[in-house]
Amino acid sequence: MADFDTIIIGAGPGGYVAAIRAAQLGQKVACVEGRETLGGTCLNVGCIPSKALLHATHLLHETHENFEKMGLMGAHPKVDWQKMQAYKADVVSGNTKGIEFLFKKNKVTWLKGWATIPAPGQVKVGDETHTAKNVVIATGSESSSLPGVTVDEETVVTSTGALTLAKPPKTMVVIGAGVIGLEMGSVYARLGTEVTVVEYLDAITPGMDAEVAKSFQRILAKQGLKFVLGAAVQSVTKGKKGATVTYKLKKNDSEASIDADIVLVATGRKPYTAGLGLEALGVEMGPRGTIKTDAHFQTNIPGLYAIGDAIAGPMLAHKAEDEGMAVAEILSGKHGHVNYNVIPGVIYTTPEVANVGKTEEQLKEEGRAYKVGKFPFMGNARAKAVFQAEGFVKLIADKETDRILGCHIIGPAAGDLIHEICVAMEFGASAQDLALTCHAHPTWSEAVREAALACGDGAIHA
Ligand code: NAI
Repeated sequence: MADFDTIIIGAGPGGYVAAIRAAQLGQKVACVEGRETLGGTCLNVGCIPSKALLHATHLLHETHENFEKMGLMGAHPKVDWQKMQAYKADVVSGNTKGIEFLFKKNKVTWLKGWATIPAPGQVKVGDETHTAKNVVIATGSESSSLPGVTVDEETVVTSTGALTLAKPPKTMVVIGAGVIGLEMGSVYARLGTEVTVVEYLDAITPGMDAEVAKSFQRILAKQGLKFVLGAAVQSVTKGKKGATVTYKLKKNDSEASIDADIVLVATGRKPYTAGLGLEALGVEMGPRGTIKTDAHFQTNIPGLYAIGDAIAGPMLAHKAEDEGMAVAEILSGKHGHVNYNVIPGVIYTTPEVANVGKTEEQLKEEGRAYKVGKFPFMGNARAKAVFQAEGFVKLIADKETDRILGCHIIGPAAGDLIHEICVAMEFGASAQDLALTCHAHPTWSEAVREAALACGDGAIHA
């Protein structure tokens, strides 16, 4: 008899969700986690602490930009960095303790320590070896740096170090105009840091709808972020104070450099699987260090599964959560499934940026006929009332059938608005279905309906 039905390695959003769901479905479950607290990168040093800093600095920005316009007069708040850090730490600990509570509530055993897999069906934590019918790897990812760049998490930092800087720097260079670079760049720009983003490609946020990316860059530039695009970073050299970032401009091969107090390396993440013993087990790997799995998340070793950032697909907490639920259901004899066509992406800047489904660029490449309904937040009464009228909703539908194929939003609460589209897409809805649905006035969601109307006979307020 095995000690457990399922042992899950890693208590990030993929692992802890898998553990809770498997326990709810009647399994005897253990989850191995070596950090002091549960929740993985997302809760400890990722999504959650960054949202705390984004929230605090957004409010600070509001006091400077918009308070007087609304008749709110008086001294602007000063930043107490230590207090802001303490607020962030409280938010993190409230959330990580919440997972500990859920583990207890669902009778999930937390095996504290770092796991190795000495043989199929075995997980070693410290000196103890535990057995299980099934083992799920949910070990997530780690920042991937660049050749020629040494991260010390003080002057040259990844997202982890960027969350706990000793103080907001005067100058910062962000390498990579992806999600991390722009969220953390926004935080520090709002705190008064001069932020320069150096990006290899000719546009920010690769893979995003080109129109949204362009508008996003323009809005961020207005907020003070500087961009150097088409520039491949060659090296980062630490000086007595700060560091120098050297880059090569792709258009003419010329080299240039910028000095900064802090350099944030945000050039992507890679699966974190070192130390598990996968090579000795003969686990088949896929591209870029991912673990290869079949459609049911099983590796080539029977009884060994993997989910989340450690396998193929977008490195997003909610994708890992969905896979966690699906694998728990599969291991409980049910039919877990993830619809990879409807996974939203959100950037939590102000304005927020959100997307789901296909971009125009992808549809052009596929040769699929489509139509676009666009609506600017300038025509949305609520957005105008709260100084958030920049941006737009862009809905894409099949030209013939009107079925919704994708949506791209830049504007207030975009990260929440996008879910109306996700549900619509799961139900195979048409743009007309959305357009015929009553939306409360005055809400930002009316902009989504107007974009749907724009796919048909036209929007009302544009
Ligand atoms: P990313 O893949 O989003 O962006 C990395 C950027 O670095 C790319 O634009 C790339 O072209 C650029 N780059 C690469 N090498 C370069 C070089 N030598 N010089 C200049 N630029 C270079 O990666 P990021 O932002 O580090 O995020 C990592 C992962 O974490 C992503 O999968 C992201 O989706 C996820 N994440 C998601 C969040 C969210 O959903 N809100 C928040 C934070 C991270």
